[in-house]
Amino acid sequence: MNRSAEQQPNPLREGLSTRAVPQPCSIVIFGATGDLTHRKLIPALYNLAADGEMPPATTVVGFARRQKTDEEFRNELEEATREFSRQSVRDEVWETFAQSIFYHQSEFEDASGYKTLAERLDKIDKERGTRGNRLFYLAAAPDQFEAILKNLKAAGLNEAREGSWARVIVEKPFGHDLASARELNRIVRKSFSEEQTYRIDHFLGKETAQNILVLRFANAIFGPLWNRHYVDHLQITAAETLGIEGRGGYYETAGALRDMVQNHLLQLLCLVAMEPPTDLRADSIRDEKVKVVRPIRRYRREDVATNVVRGQYVQGAINGKTVAAYREEEKVKPDSVTDTFVALRLYIDNWRWSGVPVYLRVGKRLPKSATEISVHFKHAPPVLFNKQTTALDQNVLVIRIQPDEGISLRIQAKMPGTSFRIQPVKMDFHYGTSFGKPSPEAYERLLLDAMSGDATLFARHDEVEQAWSFIDLIENAWTAEKDAPQLYFYPAGSWGPEEADELMAREGRAWRRF
Ligand code: BG6
Repeated sequence: MNRSAEQQPNPLREGLSTRAVPQPCSIVIFGATGDLTHRKLIPALYNLAADGEMPPATTVVGFARRQKTDEEFRNELEEATREFSRQSVRDEVWETFAQSIFYHQSEFEDASGYKTLAERLDKIDKERGTRGNRLFYLAAAPDQFEAILKNLKAAGLNEAREGSWARVIVEKPFGHDLASARELNRIVRKSFSEEQTYRIDHFLGKETAQNILVLRFANAIFGPLWNRHYVDHLQITAAETLGIEGRGGYYETAGALRDMVQNHLLQLLCLVAMEPPTDLRADSIRDEKVKVVRPIRRYRREDVATNVVRGQYVQGAINGKTVAAYREEEKVKPDSVTDTFVALRLYIDNWRWSGVPVYLRVGKRLPKSATEISVHFKHAPPVLFNKQTTALDQNVLVIRIQPDEGISLRIQAKMPGTSFRIQPVKMDFHYGTSFGKPSPEAYERLLLDAMSGDATLFARHDEVEQAWSFIDLIENAWTAEKDAPQLYFYPAGSWGPEEADELMAREGRAWRRF
């Protein structure tokens, strides 16, 4: 019987879990002339090459419709990499890297393009030593996924040969609602097994997101406090000063809830709220993550308005510069009701978190770009130092995902002096100063993991579906013909509509100020 590399024991490299050493492979990018390839994928691969992390024979094949030569493709990627790479491009590294990039022109629907792709990959295996390993990256528009997957199968490219592997990375958005996500899972499964499938959520590749598990499970002091007995509430904010950056067409079909909450924020919540896994295998971790999303309380339609605030930016100023309203952006309808801001409260109805509110907030055109998670602990009892008219601040543990990655803990301290005054202070850890080296970009880590066969930081089919089933209820309420919750407007450069503050204020709480 053929044993594919998926079943073979592999040598290990250091990592979150025991993971295999990445093996040389051909990375075929569908949608190679698009934004993601230029801004993220190629710069990430370049950085891996520059840092000596990538197996030397690794080869990139860009698959797209437009006619161009290998040379033209390399030149445009060089320009993009010089613009978007986190480290500056060294000519000699680029020269070598560029020689491993090829362009394959074909329509996505044209089966013959996949036949010639298969021949080309065989040739690359012989000439460059990629050993029959293939990583297919679906970075094309989601409506092309089905044709690509079908044709990969028809050309036999979905099957690993003896001793090698074939995997597929599926970019977001993974569906548009529960039904389409299920359908996409079904389509993917027709060509690739779950073990071969890597659903990417780039937030999971961020260094600080991975550190959440280390913070929680490599330190003994947090475990006993991490539950409803000690935690008052959780907050997660992902704020961006950016608008929609010319992606009006996509954003009109998505909105902030689908674009950010369904995936990135719920994934972060899983890491913060999950039970300790029994070991660090991908599925042990993902088993625990899905147990966070499943018990998220599903809103009844009439409860959506009191638990979720949706907003959209109007003209305002960011860093002193006037920016246009969302409705004035290109490819946006002048009467669009798409959400560019969401603030919501949810409950995870399980033993650990019962009764603890979780507040999520995302928005475009906010005053600052920052993503952070904060754990707000309960107040000290109202005796001794906390026996005052204004209560002392709570202890807050803040995990800064970006920028200025790090962790801080707010504690109370006695101010120096002969009087007795208490003031909150911060114990602060900064990645930059403690480790003195820049963190890799999320896509670097994730591409390397996919090449190594480690799916820990990729979403499993059931996580994705559970997340959609929660999101759908909100979207359905918003699009209901009768009594749909209101859309609130906020000026660009503000922290969203006032109603988002009221969501917290009603319960005597407030969003963290940045
Ligand atoms: C993407 C969203 O998934 O994440 C974008 O589609 C968003 O709208 C981006 O801007 C944010 O990612 P990051 O890594 O820049 O915080």
